[in-house]
Amino acid sequence: MKSGFSKLSKRKKLRWVAENFFKNPEDVMRELMSFWHEEDKTQKVFDDFSENTLSNYYLPFGVAPNFVINGNSYCVPMVIEESSVVAAASSGAKFWMQRGGFKAEIIGTKKVGQVHFAWKGEGDKLRLFFPEIKNALIEGTQDITRNMERRGGGVLDISLMDMTHLESDYFQLKVDFETCDSMGANFINSVLEAFAKILQQFVLEHPEFTGEEKNLSIIMAILSNYTPECLVRAEVSCPIEELGQIGDCDAQEFAYKFEKAIRIAQLDVHRATTHNKGILNGIDAVAIATGNDFRAIESCGHTYAARDGQYRSLSNVSTENDVFRFWMDFPIAVGTVGGLTTLHPLAKRSLEMLGSPGAQELMRIIVVVGLAQNFAAVRSLVTTGIQQGHMKMHLTNILNHMQATEQEVKQAIVFFKDRVVSFTSVREFLDKIRAKNEVVT
Ligand code: MEV
Repeated sequence: MKSGFSKLSKRKKLRWVAENFFKNPEDVMRELMSFWHEEDKTQKVFDDFSENTLSNYYLPFGVAPNFVINGNSYCVPMVIEESSVVAAASSGAKFWMQRGGFKAEIIGTKKVGQVHFAWKGEGDKLRLFFPEIKNALIEGTQDITRNMERRGGGVLDISLMDMTHLESDYFQLKVDFETCDSMGANFINSVLEAFAKILQQFVLEHPEFTGEEKNLSIIMAILSNYTPECLVRAEVSCPIEELGQIGDCDAQEFAYKFEKAIRIAQLDVHRATTHNKGILNGIDAVAIATGNDFRAIESCGHTYAARDGQYRSLSNVSTENDVFRFWMDFPIAVGTVGGLTTLHPLAKRSLEMLGSPGAQELMRIIVVVGLAQNFAAVRSLVTTGIQQGHMKMHLTNILNHMQATEQEVKQAIVFFKDRVVSFTSVREFLDKIRAKNEVVT
């Protein structure tokens, strides 16, 4: 066991890791330190985001231009390591830009938190005193909620949930929140923890509660990442004929195949998972670029996708009256103030690039990118197949990995235009042209 590790300086931590887990510690030290960003105060900011930091882990920061949403144009920042995602988002954005752009509306902004507790008394008794308890909770947290209330948010409602039909002695406070432009996790959790203490105190001190009833055991107080009422609807539509020729498909055939593909993702859980992963490719990339919590977004999206008991596609399509309509309702809690959004220099720039949106505008943008991403993926799948686009990017990655020269890259792009790209085929190709060049020189 290594104790006191967290107290070591960053350099010492790195040295310990390099010496204990690598054969060539000096090289490892040098390599990891080459990713430090020591020229200004930025490195300290990065180090403080987490613990036991050794270095920085870079990911590509790209953009997808040409997004038109409710008549406004955006160039959307995306942070993602997977090739083709940004290209697909851009191409989906451009396609719909020429057909009126995306529409997006906020259906709700309600966040949720819970205080889970165990109590051996009668649910009816708690219910009887609940108006009094509620007042105590609201009044006892004024210090925490005042600022948020000034900004137009705060606690919206508190309900008492009797869960004893599922688990003995189990109750919860279910609390609805409005957190304005912040994601609100800290605010919500602080309020919930204060609620927990007040509730416990209430039964302890109230003369009508006696014996066992005075013992209310708080199990936990925490926000819920499932926010089905913090919801955006994003959509696109156009007459089917305006879809035009796509690959080998005319507009009618494309619409037919696209609709079937979405139906399949509605019905089949294996396909639904991959389908929704494609949506989250876009959503996560913008969430990361803007300093938002993509794990929270992911878990919420997946739960929503299973809200009727079966995991299904998050997106929907209809082709009624010769109109192609493609849309998605996606629950998403994001912030544009607080947390990483203001601390991470690139998250700050991302938000600036988007015109410094409030949380609601950012919710709309992110969900639209998810829809565009899904459109582009399914369009490829039902026409050319996904590998064509992927392989172009894959080829670049393999060539970089094999340290191909600029000239070799040019030759490879021509050679692999109609050929299958694999590690072996690229290796063979490079070996062949390198051998040829050797003979020539
Ligand atoms: C790959 O990251 C995402 C896709 O598999 C999504 C999909 O199949 O719809 C292309």
